[in-house]
Amino acid sequence: MAEENNNKQAAVSKPSAAKSGATAKAKPVPAKTSAAKTGVYKPAEVRAEANPFKDSKMGAVENWMQERFHILNPVIDYLRKKEVPQHRLSFWYYFGGLTLFFFSIQIITGLLLLLYYRPTEAEAFARFVYIQTEVPFGWFIRQVHAWSANLMVLMVFIHMFSTFFMKAYRKPRELMWVSGFVLFVLTLGFGFTGYLLPWNELAYFATQIGTEVPKVAPGGEFIVRLLRGGEEVGGETLTRMFAMHVVLLPGLVMLFLAGHLMLVQILGTSSPIGYKEAGLIKGYEKFFPNFIAKDGIAWLIGFGLLIYLAFVFPWEIGVKADPLAAAPDGIKPEWYFWAQFQLLKDLKFEGGELLAIIIFTIGALVWVLVPFMDKRASREQKSPAFTIFGLLVLAFMIIGTFRVYLEYGW
Ligand code: HEM
Repeated sequence: MAEENNNKQAAVSKPSAAKSGATAKAKPVPAKTSAAKTGVYKPAEVRAEANPFKDSKMGAVENWMQERFHILNPVIDYLRKKEVPQHRLSFWYYFGGLTLFFFSIQIITGLLLLLYYRPTEAEAFARFVYIQTEVPFGWFIRQVHAWSANLMVLMVFIHMFSTFFMKAYRKPRELMWVSGFVLFVLTLGFGFTGYLLPWNELAYFATQIGTEVPKVAPGGEFIVRLLRGGEEVGGETLTRMFAMHVVLLPGLVMLFLAGHLMLVQILGTSSPIGYKEAGLIKGYEKFFPNFIAKDGIAWLIGFGLLIYLAFVFPWEIGVKADPLAAAPDGIKPEWYFWAQFQLLKDLKFEGGELLAIIIFTIGALVWVLVPFMDKRASREQKSPAFTIFGLLVLAFMIIGTFRVYLEYGW
Protein backbone atom coordinates (compact mmCIF):
# COMPACT_ATOMS: atom_id res chain seq x y z
CA MET A 1 0.00 0.00 0.00
CA ALA A 2 2.78 2.35 1.03
CA GLU A 3 4.56 1.46 -2.18
CA GLU A 4 1.44 2.22 -4.26
CA ASN A 5 1.28 5.67 -2.66
CA ASN A 6 4.92 6.23 -3.48
CA ASN A 7 4.31 5.33 -7.08
CA LYS A 8 1.39 7.73 -7.36
CA GLN A 9 3.45 10.53 -5.87
CA ALA A 10 6.41 9.79 -8.08
CA ALA A 11 4.08 10.04 -11.06
CA VAL A 12 2.83 13.46 -9.86
CA SER A 13 6.38 14.72 -9.44
CA LYS A 14 7.31 14.40 -13.11
CA PRO A 15 7.76 17.77 -14.93
CA SER A 16 4.37 18.91 -16.22
CA ALA A 17 5.83 20.97 -19.06
CA ALA A 18 4.93 18.40 -21.73
CA LYS A 19 1.47 19.79 -22.34
CA SER A 20 2.02 23.41 -21.36
CA GLY A 21 5.04 23.93 -23.60
CA ALA A 22 7.66 26.31 -22.19
CA THR A 23 6.23 26.73 -18.71
CA ALA A 24 6.20 24.08 -16.03
CA LYS A 25 3.47 25.37 -13.71
CA ALA A 26 2.67 22.47 -11.32
CA LYS A 27 4.95 22.32 -8.33
CA PRO A 28 6.66 18.95 -8.02
CA VAL A 29 5.53 17.00 -4.94
CA PRO A 30 8.48 15.35 -3.23
CA ALA A 31 8.08 11.60 -3.46
CA LYS A 32 8.05 10.05 0.01
CA THR A 33 9.77 6.75 0.25
CA SER A 34 9.13 3.98 2.71
CA ALA A 35 12.70 4.64 3.88
CA ALA A 36 11.30 7.09 6.45
CA LYS A 37 9.53 4.20 8.23
CA THR A 38 11.78 1.21 7.68
CA GLY A 39 15.13 2.73 6.82
CA VAL A 40 15.12 0.57 3.65
CA TYR A 41 14.84 2.39 0.33
CA LYS A 42 12.59 0.70 -2.21
CA PRO A 43 12.70 2.34 -5.62
CA ALA A 44 9.29 3.39 -6.99
CA GLU A 45 8.06 1.18 -9.81
CA VAL A 46 6.67 4.02 -11.85
CA ARG A 47 9.50 6.52 -12.28
CA ALA A 48 9.18 10.07 -13.57
CA GLU A 49 8.90 10.04 -17.37
CA ALA A 50 12.41 10.08 -18.88
CA ASN A 51 11.26 12.42 -21.63
CA PRO A 52 8.31 14.46 -20.38
CA PHE A 53 8.21 16.29 -23.73
CA LYS A 54 7.72 13.34 -26.02
CA ASP A 55 4.00 14.08 -26.67
CA SER A 56 4.40 17.85 -26.81
CA LYS A 57 3.19 19.95 -29.72
CA MET A 58 6.34 22.09 -29.76
CA GLY A 59 8.56 22.53 -32.81
CA ALA A 60 11.62 20.29 -33.12
CA VAL A 61 14.10 22.98 -32.02
CA GLU A 62 12.05 24.09 -29.02
CA ASN A 63 11.48 20.50 -28.07
CA TRP A 64 15.23 19.83 -28.29
CA MET A 65 15.93 22.83 -26.08
CA GLN A 66 13.17 21.97 -23.60
CA GLU A 67 14.39 18.41 -23.15
CA ARG A 68 17.77 19.75 -22.11
CA PHE A 69 17.15 23.11 -20.48
CA HIS A 70 13.59 23.03 -19.07
CA ILE A 71 15.12 23.73 -15.68
CA LEU A 72 15.61 27.31 -16.88
CA ASN A 73 11.89 27.85 -17.59
CA PRO A 74 11.20 29.76 -14.35
CA VAL A 75 14.10 32.12 -15.20
CA ILE A 76 12.76 32.71 -18.71
CA ASP A 77 9.26 33.29 -17.30
CA TYR A 78 10.73 35.79 -14.87
CA LEU A 79 12.58 37.67 -17.61
CA ARG A 80 9.44 37.76 -19.75
CA LYS A 81 7.66 39.56 -16.95
CA LYS A 82 10.44 42.10 -16.39
CA GLU A 83 9.33 45.70 -17.03
CA VAL A 84 11.08 49.04 -17.32
CA PRO A 85 9.40 52.20 -15.97
CA GLN A 86 8.75 54.99 -18.46
CA HIS A 87 9.27 58.60 -17.35
CA ARG A 88 11.06 61.73 -18.49
CA LEU A 89 14.47 60.43 -17.30
CA SER A 90 14.15 56.99 -19.00
CA PHE A 91 16.72 58.14 -21.56
CA TRP A 92 19.50 57.53 -19.04
CA TYR A 93 18.67 53.83 -18.84
CA TYR A 94 20.39 53.27 -22.19
CA PHE A 95 23.92 54.01 -21.04
CA GLY A 96 24.54 50.76 -19.14
CA GLY A 97 23.63 48.85 -22.30
CA LEU A 98 25.83 51.11 -24.41
CA THR A 99 28.77 50.44 -22.09
CA LEU A 100 28.14 46.75 -22.56
CA PHE A 101 27.98 47.21 -26.32
CA PHE A 102 31.35 48.97 -26.53
CA PHE A 103 32.85 46.37 -24.23
CA SER A 104 31.73 43.62 -26.65
CA ILE A 105 33.35 45.54 -29.52
CA GLN A 106 36.57 45.64 -27.46
CA ILE A 107 36.58 41.88 -27.02
CA ILE A 108 36.07 41.20 -30.73
CA THR A 109 38.54 43.78 -32.06
CA GLY A 110 41.03 42.99 -29.28
CA LEU A 111 41.05 39.32 -30.29
CA LEU A 112 41.70 40.30 -33.91
CA LEU A 113 44.58 42.60 -32.91
CA LEU A 114 46.04 39.77 -30.85
CA LEU A 115 46.54 37.77 -34.03
CA TYR A 116 49.31 40.16 -35.11
CA TYR A 117 50.55 41.98 -32.01
CA ARG A 118 53.72 40.95 -30.10
CA PRO A 119 54.33 42.38 -26.62
CA THR A 120 58.12 42.86 -26.71
CA GLU A 121 60.17 46.00 -26.55
CA ALA A 122 61.78 45.17 -29.90
CA GLU A 123 58.63 44.25 -31.81
CA ALA A 124 55.60 46.02 -30.29
CA PHE A 125 55.89 49.30 -32.18
CA ALA A 126 56.78 47.62 -35.48
CA ARG A 127 53.80 45.31 -35.17
CA PHE A 128 51.52 48.29 -34.71
CA VAL A 129 52.93 49.86 -37.88
CA TYR A 130 52.45 46.52 -39.62
CA ILE A 131 48.83 46.19 -38.44
CA GLN A 132 48.15 49.76 -39.45
CA THR A 133 49.77 49.60 -42.90
CA GLU A 134 50.02 45.99 -44.12
CA VAL A 135 47.35 43.77 -42.57
CA PRO A 136 44.12 43.91 -44.62
CA PHE A 137 41.66 46.08 -42.65
CA GLY A 138 44.18 46.12 -39.80
CA TRP A 139 44.02 49.93 -39.66
CA PHE A 140 40.25 49.72 -39.33
CA ILE A 141 40.29 47.18 -36.51
CA ARG A 142 42.92 49.19 -34.64
CA GLN A 143 40.99 52.45 -35.02
CA VAL A 144 37.74 50.85 -33.93
CA HIS A 145 39.48 49.32 -30.88
CA ALA A 146 41.01 52.67 -29.90
CA TRP A 147 37.79 54.66 -30.39
CA SER A 148 35.56 52.05 -28.80
CA ALA A 149 37.81 52.14 -25.72
CA ASN A 150 37.27 55.88 -25.42
CA LEU A 151 33.54 55.58 -25.98
CA MET A 152 33.28 52.79 -23.43
CA VAL A 153 34.97 54.97 -20.80
CA LEU A 154 32.69 57.90 -21.70
CA MET A 155 29.60 55.67 -21.45
CA VAL A 156 30.68 54.24 -18.11
CA PHE A 157 31.12 57.79 -16.74
CA ILE A 158 27.66 58.81 -17.97
CA HIS A 159 26.12 55.58 -16.66
CA MET A 160 27.75 55.99 -13.26
CA PHE A 161 26.72 59.61 -12.79
CA SER A 162 23.20 59.08 -14.12
CA THR A 163 22.57 56.15 -11.77
CA PHE A 164 24.08 58.28 -9.01
CA PHE A 165 21.77 61.25 -9.57
CA MET A 166 18.72 59.00 -9.97
CA LYS A 167 19.79 57.38 -6.68
CA ALA A 168 19.48 53.99 -8.41
CA TYR A 169 22.01 52.72 -5.86
CA ARG A 170 19.49 52.86 -3.01
CA LYS A 171 18.22 49.79 -1.17
CA PRO A 172 18.11 47.01 -2.38
CA ARG A 173 20.50 47.92 -5.24
CA GLU A 174 23.62 48.57 -3.13
CA LEU A 175 25.54 45.70 -4.69
CA MET A 176 24.69 46.88 -8.19
CA TRP A 177 26.49 50.07 -7.30
CA VAL A 178 29.45 48.32 -5.66
CA SER A 179 29.89 45.85 -8.55
CA GLY A 180 29.48 48.79 -10.94
CA PHE A 181 32.21 50.70 -9.15
CA VAL A 182 34.56 47.74 -9.49
CA LEU A 183 33.72 47.66 -13.21
CA PHE A 184 34.49 51.36 -13.42
CA VAL A 185 37.95 50.85 -11.88
CA LEU A 186 38.59 47.88 -14.17
CA THR A 187 37.54 49.94 -17.20
CA LEU A 188 40.07 52.63 -16.28
CA GLY A 189 42.59 49.81 -15.78
CA PHE A 190 41.98 48.72 -19.37
CA GLY A 191 42.74 52.24 -20.56
CA PHE A 192 45.89 52.50 -18.49
CA THR A 193 47.36 49.12 -19.45
CA GLY A 194 46.38 49.42 -23.12
CA TYR A 195 48.03 52.82 -23.50
CA LEU A 196 51.56 51.40 -23.34
CA LEU A 197 51.00 48.55 -25.82
CA PRO A 198 51.93 50.49 -29.02
CA TRP A 199 55.23 51.31 -27.28
CA ASN A 200 55.36 54.86 -28.57
CA GLU A 201 57.07 57.83 -26.98
CA LEU A 202 53.95 59.43 -25.56
CA ALA A 203 52.69 56.22 -23.98
CA TYR A 204 56.12 55.36 -22.64
CA PHE A 205 56.62 58.61 -20.74
CA ALA A 206 52.99 58.82 -19.63
CA THR A 207 53.31 55.31 -18.15
CA GLN A 208 56.57 56.37 -16.50
CA ILE A 209 54.70 59.21 -14.76
CA GLY A 210 51.56 57.19 -14.08
CA THR A 211 53.32 54.23 -12.48
CA GLU A 212 55.37 56.61 -10.32
CA VAL A 213 52.33 58.00 -8.49
CA PRO A 214 52.00 55.28 -5.79
CA LYS A 215 55.70 55.74 -4.83
CA VAL A 216 55.03 58.33 -2.12
CA ALA A 217 52.39 56.23 -0.33
CA PRO A 218 53.35 53.70 2.36
CA GLY A 219 54.13 50.42 0.58
CA GLY A 220 54.03 52.33 -2.69
CA GLU A 221 57.53 51.25 -3.76
CA PHE A 222 56.26 47.69 -3.88
CA ILE A 223 53.29 48.65 -6.09
CA VAL A 224 55.56 50.58 -8.44
CA ARG A 225 57.89 47.58 -8.84
CA LEU A 226 54.92 45.26 -9.23
CA LEU A 227 53.54 47.37 -12.06
CA ARG A 228 56.88 47.99 -13.76
CA GLY A 229 58.55 44.66 -13.21
CA GLY A 230 61.72 46.57 -12.30
CA GLU A 231 62.94 50.01 -11.32
CA GLU A 232 62.09 51.68 -14.63
CA VAL A 233 59.47 51.28 -17.33
CA GLY A 234 60.87 48.77 -19.84
CA GLY A 235 60.24 45.49 -21.62
CA GLU A 236 59.12 43.87 -18.36
CA THR A 237 56.52 46.58 -17.89
CA LEU A 238 55.21 45.99 -21.39
CA THR A 239 54.80 42.25 -20.69
CA ARG A 240 52.98 42.99 -17.44
CA MET A 241 50.67 45.60 -18.96
CA PHE A 242 49.91 43.17 -21.78
CA ALA A 243 49.12 40.30 -19.40
CA MET A 244 46.82 42.55 -17.37
CA HIS A 245 45.18 43.97 -20.49
CA VAL A 246 44.36 40.69 -22.21
CA VAL A 247 44.01 38.19 -19.35
CA LEU A 248 43.57 39.58 -15.86
CA LEU A 249 41.27 42.54 -16.56
CA PRO A 250 38.97 40.76 -19.05
CA GLY A 251 38.61 37.87 -16.59
CA LEU A 252 37.75 40.17 -13.70
CA VAL A 253 35.36 42.23 -15.85
CA MET A 254 33.52 39.07 -16.93
CA LEU A 255 33.15 38.03 -13.31
CA PHE A 256 31.84 41.35 -12.03
CA LEU A 257 29.78 41.97 -15.14
CA ALA A 258 28.01 38.65 -14.65
CA GLY A 259 27.13 39.69 -11.08
CA HIS A 260 26.12 43.21 -12.15
CA LEU A 261 23.85 42.05 -14.97
CA MET A 262 22.35 39.28 -12.86
CA LEU A 263 21.41 41.84 -10.22
CA VAL A 264 19.97 44.10 -12.93
CA GLN A 265 17.68 41.23 -13.96
CA ILE A 266 16.78 40.11 -10.44
CA LEU A 267 16.10 43.54 -8.96
CA GLY A 268 14.80 45.22 -12.11
CA THR A 269 15.11 48.86 -13.06
CA SER A 270 14.53 51.48 -10.38
CA SER A 271 12.47 54.67 -10.77
CA PRO A 272 13.66 58.01 -9.43
CA ILE A 273 12.60 58.78 -5.85
CA GLY A 274 9.05 60.13 -5.53
CA TYR A 275 8.12 59.56 -9.19
CA LYS A 276 5.56 56.86 -8.47
CA GLU A 277 3.84 58.87 -5.73
CA ALA A 278 3.79 62.03 -7.87
CA GLY A 279 2.25 60.11 -10.81
CA LEU A 280 5.28 60.83 -13.02
CA ILE A 281 5.55 57.25 -14.25
CA LYS A 282 3.85 57.21 -17.65
CA GLY A 283 3.71 53.42 -17.75
CA TYR A 284 5.85 50.31 -17.91
CA GLU A 285 7.23 48.58 -20.96
CA LYS A 286 8.33 44.99 -21.29
CA PHE A 287 12.08 44.47 -21.11
CA PHE A 288 11.77 41.67 -23.70
CA PRO A 289 11.19 42.57 -26.48
CA ASN A 290 10.40 46.33 -26.23
CA PHE A 291 13.23 47.75 -24.14
CA ILE A 292 15.88 45.47 -25.58
CA ALA A 293 14.78 46.53 -29.11
CA LYS A 294 15.25 50.19 -28.12
CA ASP A 295 18.61 49.23 -26.62
CA GLY A 296 19.42 47.77 -30.04
CA ILE A 297 18.62 51.10 -31.70
CA ALA A 298 20.93 52.88 -29.23
CA TRP A 299 23.65 50.34 -30.10
CA LEU A 300 23.18 51.00 -33.81
CA ILE A 301 23.59 54.73 -33.24
CA GLY A 302 26.67 54.02 -31.09
CA PHE A 303 28.06 51.81 -33.83
CA GLY A 304 27.48 54.51 -36.45
CA LEU A 305 29.31 57.05 -34.31
CA LEU A 306 32.17 54.60 -33.76
CA ILE A 307 32.66 53.93 -37.46
CA TYR A 308 32.46 57.65 -38.22
CA LEU A 309 35.14 58.47 -35.63
CA ALA A 310 37.39 55.60 -36.78
CA PHE A 311 37.31 56.86 -40.37
CA VAL A 312 37.40 60.60 -39.84
CA PHE A 313 39.64 60.98 -36.77
CA PRO A 314 42.23 58.18 -36.89
CA TRP A 315 44.59 57.81 -33.92
CA GLU A 316 48.23 58.25 -34.78
CA ILE A 317 50.91 55.69 -33.97
CA GLY A 318 53.49 58.31 -33.00
CA VAL A 319 57.23 57.73 -32.70
CA LYS A 320 58.83 54.61 -31.26
CA ALA A 321 59.67 54.93 -27.55
CA ASP A 322 63.31 55.53 -26.71
CA PRO A 323 63.88 54.97 -22.99
CA LEU A 324 67.25 56.77 -23.18
CA ALA A 325 65.84 59.94 -24.72
CA ALA A 326 64.64 62.89 -22.62
CA ALA A 327 60.89 63.10 -22.07
CA PRO A 328 59.32 65.41 -24.66
CA ASP A 329 57.20 68.38 -23.52
CA GLY A 330 53.48 68.06 -22.97
CA ILE A 331 53.37 64.50 -21.69
CA LYS A 332 49.91 63.84 -20.32
CA PRO A 333 47.79 60.75 -19.64
CA GLU A 334 44.57 59.76 -21.46
CA TRP A 335 41.72 62.29 -21.05
CA TYR A 336 39.92 60.19 -18.43
CA PHE A 337 42.81 60.67 -16.01
CA TRP A 338 43.12 64.41 -16.63
CA ALA A 339 41.19 65.52 -13.51
CA GLN A 340 43.48 63.47 -11.24
CA PHE A 341 46.52 64.62 -13.23
CA GLN A 342 45.50 68.26 -12.72
CA LEU A 343 45.10 67.73 -8.98
CA LEU A 344 48.61 66.24 -8.80
CA LYS A 345 49.90 69.30 -10.66
CA ASP A 346 48.04 71.68 -8.33
CA LEU A 347 49.51 70.00 -5.25
CA LYS A 348 53.13 70.36 -6.34
CA PHE A 349 54.59 71.04 -2.92
CA GLU A 350 56.32 68.94 -0.29
CA GLY A 351 53.92 66.12 0.60
CA GLY A 352 51.45 67.25 -2.08
CA GLU A 353 51.50 63.96 -3.98
CA LEU A 354 50.77 62.01 -0.82
CA LEU A 355 47.91 64.39 -0.07
CA ALA A 356 46.52 63.79 -3.57
CA ILE A 357 46.69 60.01 -3.03
CA ILE A 358 44.89 60.38 0.31
CA ILE A 359 42.19 62.52 -1.35
CA PHE A 360 41.69 59.93 -4.14
CA THR A 361 41.58 57.02 -1.72
CA ILE A 362 39.11 58.63 0.68
CA GLY A 363 37.08 59.97 -2.25
CA ALA A 364 36.86 56.52 -3.85
CA LEU A 365 35.90 54.90 -0.53
CA VAL A 366 33.14 57.41 0.13
CA TRP A 367 31.92 57.07 -3.47
CA VAL A 368 31.67 53.27 -3.29
CA LEU A 369 29.97 53.37 0.12
CA VAL A 370 27.36 55.98 -0.86
CA PRO A 371 24.47 53.46 -0.95
CA PHE A 372 25.15 52.53 2.67
CA MET A 373 25.49 56.14 3.80
CA ASP A 374 22.52 57.67 2.00
CA LYS A 375 19.91 56.57 4.55
CA ARG A 376 17.29 59.05 3.32
CA ALA A 377 17.37 57.59 -0.20
CA SER A 378 16.99 54.07 1.20
CA ARG A 379 13.79 55.31 2.92
CA GLU A 380 12.62 56.64 -0.48
CA GLN A 381 13.15 60.25 0.64
CA LYS A 382 15.02 62.84 -1.39
CA SER A 383 18.63 63.29 -0.27
CA PRO A 384 19.87 66.67 -1.51
CA ALA A 385 23.15 66.42 0.46
CA PHE A 386 24.19 63.46 -1.72
CA THR A 387 23.03 65.21 -4.88
CA ILE A 388 25.30 68.13 -3.97
CA PHE A 389 28.15 65.72 -3.23
CA GLY A 390 27.68 64.13 -6.68
CA LEU A 391 27.61 67.57 -8.32
CA LEU A 392 30.88 68.50 -6.57
CA VAL A 393 32.56 65.30 -7.78
CA LEU A 394 31.26 65.92 -11.31
CA ALA A 395 32.44 69.55 -11.20
CA PHE A 396 35.89 68.41 -10.02
CA MET A 397 36.13 66.01 -12.96
CA ILE A 398 34.88 68.45 -15.60
CA ILE A 399 36.90 71.46 -14.41
CA GLY A 400 40.11 69.43 -13.98
CA THR A 401 39.69 67.85 -17.42
CA PHE A 402 38.97 71.21 -19.04
CA ARG A 403 42.01 72.84 -17.42
CA VAL A 404 44.32 70.15 -18.80
CA TYR A 405 42.72 70.61 -22.21
CA LEU A 406 43.32 74.39 -22.07
CA GLU A 407 46.97 73.89 -21.14
CA TYR A 408 47.91 70.98 -23.40
CA GLY A 409 45.25 70.82 -26.08
CA TRP A 410 43.79 67.48 -27.15
C1 HEM B 1 31.61 47.77 -17.63
C2 HEM B 1 30.83 48.63 -17.00
C3 HEM B 1 29.32 48.52 -16.81
C4 HEM B 1 28.39 47.85 -17.57
C5 HEM B 1 28.63 47.04 -18.84
C6 HEM B 1 27.10 48.08 -16.95
C7 HEM B 1 25.88 47.60 -17.42
C8 HEM B 1 24.64 47.90 -16.88
C9 HEM B 1 23.38 47.61 -17.50
C10 HEM B 1 23.19 46.96 -18.87
C11 HEM B 1 22.40 48.06 -16.67
C12 HEM B 1 20.88 48.02 -16.92
C13 HEM B 1 20.44 49.20 -17.78
C14 HEM B 1 20.69 50.55 -17.16
O1 HEM B 1 20.08 50.88 -16.14
O2 HEM B 1 21.52 51.30 -17.74
C15 HEM B 1 23.04 48.59 -15.49
C16 HEM B 1 22.38 49.09 -14.38
C17 HEM B 1 23.00 49.67 -13.29
N1 HEM B 1 24.35 49.94 -13.16
FE1 HEM B 1 25.79 49.38 -14.47
N2 HEM B 1 27.27 48.85 -15.82
C18 HEM B 1 28.61 49.15 -15.72
C19 HEM B 1 29.20 49.96 -14.76
C20 HEM B 1 28.51 50.57 -13.72
C21 HEM B 1 29.08 51.55 -12.82
C22 HEM B 1 30.48 52.12 -12.94
C23 HEM B 1 28.12 51.85 -11.88
C24 HEM B 1 28.21 52.76 -10.70
C25 HEM B 1 29.25 52.87 -9.93
C26 HEM B 1 26.92 51.08 -12.21
C27 HEM B 1 25.75 51.07 -11.50
C28 HEM B 1 24.55 50.57 -11.96
C29 HEM B 1 23.29 50.67 -11.24
C30 HEM B 1 23.08 51.28 -9.85
C31 HEM B 1 22.32 50.13 -12.09
C32 HEM B 1 20.82 50.02 -11.81
C33 HEM B 1 20.07 51.10 -12.55
C34 HEM B 1 18.61 51.12 -12.19
O3 HEM B 1 18.10 50.16 -11.61
O4 HEM B 1 17.95 52.12 -12.48
N3 HEM B 1 27.20 50.33 -13.35
N4 HEM B 1 24.41 48.49 -15.65
